[in-house]
Formats: sequence, C-alpha cells, structure tokens
Amino acid sequence: MPHAAVNGTNLYYHESGTGLPVVLVHGFPLDHRIWRKQVHDLAPVCRVITPDLRGFGKSAGGGGFTIASLAEDLYLLLSQIHALPCVMGGLSMGGYVALAYERQYAATLRGLMLIDTRAGADSLEGRAGRNAMIEVARTQGSAAIAEKMLPKMVAGGNVDGTSEVVRELKEIMEACPVHTIEHALAAMRDRLDYQPTLSRIAAPTLIVAGEMDVLIPAGQSEEMHKGIRGSTISMIAGAGHIAPMEKAHEVSKAIRQFLVTLGS
Ligand code: MLT
Repeated sequence: MPHAAVNGTNLYYHESGTGLPVVLVHGFPLDHRIWRKQVHDLAPVCRVITPDLRGFGKSAGGGGFTIASLAEDLYLLLSQIHALPCVMGGLSMGGYVALAYERQYAATLRGLMLIDTRAGADSLEGRAGRNAMIEVARTQGSAAIAEKMLPKMVAGGNVDGTSEVVRELKEIMEACPVHTIEHALAAMRDRLDYQPTLSRIAAPTLIVAGEMDVLIPAGQSEEMHKGIRGSTISMIAGAGHIAPMEKAHEVSKAIRQFLVTLGS
C-alpha cells in the first residue's frame, strides 16, 4: 500500500473503493488499523482513505507537530492523490485534526464527521495531565501509556485481554513510538479552542458518540451538536471511546446514512 512524500516526511495511507473520498483519521496513540471494519463496510459505496498521521503506524516521523500542521499534512496528501473535495472524519485526536482541517481548508470539504471527540481546548488541569503523561512516556515507554489508557478506551473499562478489540488496541498502542507519543501529547495540550467558531461550520456534519465514553463524555458531543447548525448526532449504545472498533457496524451504518444525505 502507498506512501506519499509530504511536508518533509513520508505518509502512509490505505485506500479502497471508488467515488467520493471519505477520509478517516485515527486517534491517539493509534493508527489506520482502528478503521479496519469501516474500510470493509464503506468501500462498496465510496473511496475510503485511512492515513497514518506523521510518526504513527507506518508513516515516518519528522520532528514535532501541531494539530494544525497535521491538518496541513492531510491537505497536501489529499491534494497529491487527487482526493479533494472529501468528507473528513476523525476519532478523538483525529477529530481535533478534522476541526483544524475545517478551519483551514473548508472549501475542500463535502462533509465533516466528528467521532468520539470534542471542540474545546484542554483545561489547566488537562494540560498538567498531558505533561505528566509526557513524563510517563519518556521514563516508562509506550507500554506504560497503553496500560494507563486502555481501561478508559473501552466501555466498562474491561481490559482482561480476552476481547479482540482490547488485544488489537494494545498491540497498536504499544507499537507507537515514544517520540510520537510525546509530540502528540504536546500538540493536544496546545490545541486551539474550536467552540467559539462551531456556528460558522458550513459543511454538513455528522457527530458520533459512544454513549459510555469516559474519556470524552457524550455530553461534549451534544454540545458540538448544539453548536454546529444542521448537524446530525448518532449515539452508539454500549460503546466507549473507541466506538468504531467496539460497535463497528453501528458506526459504519451511521456513516453510510450520512453519506446518503450528501447525495453520494
Ligand atoms: C484520543 O483518543 O485521541 C485521545 O485520548 C484524545 C485526548 O486525549 O484528548
């Protein structure tokens, strides 16, 4: 599968299907593999593109980054592979990138999908938490980050290791390079507050929330829904933070229904 030279690095992306480009951006500290089931479910109706952000998965690194620079990477990648205009979707940190993309490249959007994510910036306490996590990554490595985060990713916090979702997540998180974890935590800590400008979003928007998400409680999705005129919200029963893996077909169904409203 292909790589593209973008902004001084080499980005990996997977693509499948034809027609309207639908881009799905992974969260932290994850990679394109979290969308495996959506790729299967969506490829018959669109061109589904799942990139690895710089430093994640099979993409090369290349120093520090911001949420806005990750959006710029995506814009350059999608221009290069003739995948604009597109529907841009992101999970959690990927949603922050999707919101930054909307702010910079709104004219290239057919739609926006905000999945298990939020528009607000980190609180002071949240920023201190990011710094503490950076220290954990530096001193104890990726496995320690995975161990801290895993119970918050899945509904009910059950990480006894018997579920396929937990096994896959653990493998992905433990493989994330420490430098990438540090850069991403700093980028999330310093990201902008998109709440005040939600009302200006003109792209048709789908919001998806795991109703049992403890990392980003569903109430924050309700707030975005109120803020983005004409947006649609889909609450996924029984899902935690990683709804696209935990309740894959329900999430795919919500996306397919949204794509129908775009006339694709
Ligand atoms: C993610 O799932 O991408 C991150 O946990 C989001 C965050 O920490 O703000």
